[in-house]
Amino acid sequence: MAITIRDLADYKRQGRRFVMLTAYDYPTARLLAEAEVPVILVGDSVGDNVLGYANTLPVTMPEMLHHARAVARGAPELLLVGDMPFGAYQTSCEEAARNAAEFLKAGMHAVKVEGGGWVTNTVAFMTQRGIPVMGHLGLTPQSVNAFGGMRVQGRSDDARQRLIADAQALELAGAFAVVLEGIPRDLAAQVSSALTIPTIGIGAGPDCDAQVLIIYDLLGITPHTRGSVPKFARAYADIGDQIVTAARAYADDVRDGRFPDDAHSYH
Ligand code: KIV
Repeated sequence: MAITIRDLADYKRQGRRFVMLTAYDYPTARLLAEAEVPVILVGDSVGDNVLGYANTLPVTMPEMLHHARAVARGAPELLLVGDMPFGAYQTSCEEAARNAAEFLKAGMHAVKVEGGGWVTNTVAFMTQRGIPVMGHLGLTPQSVNAFGGMRVQGRSDDARQRLIADAQALELAGAFAVVLEGIPRDLAAQVSSALTIPTIGIGAGPDCDAQVLIIYDLLGITPHTRGSVPKFARAYADIGDQIVTAARAYADDVRDGRFPDDAHSYH
């Protein structure tokens, strides 16, 4: 049965923790469906994890839609969230809704936008028009230049109060969930108990209603620009090392005449 935003609301009511993972392609989406992961985020983290950009800022709508369509073909039964890239929702509510509609036409069931404050109007504009929206507060990567680097947010009293107010405003605007990234654990706990919609943490401690990780951090594939796995992530596999080992073994076998052998030949 398909997962919907109503299921996430139920999970929060029932106190049932859940996970979201990023995916950017068809096979990964299929595998995550097999693993019964309920929510996939086609993140703009595709920029620094897949496309080789220094950060998420260069990612375009056509690039996002390309990956969104592949994921939608792989796991249409999961709740699929398309991440609005930088520039796709900052200029006007109309532009945001137009781009969000492209995500829904590409098979996504919802979109995600970063920020509080001014974004709240945009979120309300979209949710009133039938577009489910996930918020994203804290260390929002599209604001890396404004933050002067990837720094934990919400440390001062002011910043804490602002973040709590932003989260409540996003809920009021109709957001169905909020990602909390790179904030102190106790602040994430406070936000999670202040909201009736689920919080989804990444680098925000264990007291959120749900957790999200970038799939490559979980798999141990980290040749991307972030370098090693961040402090808040855990590699549950070492697929990166396995790829290198497998590619080396294949090259050695070909070089030494062990592959292809007779069993792998047509007769
Ligand atoms: O783009 C992304 O993958 C994200 C997650 C880190 C939440 O925004």
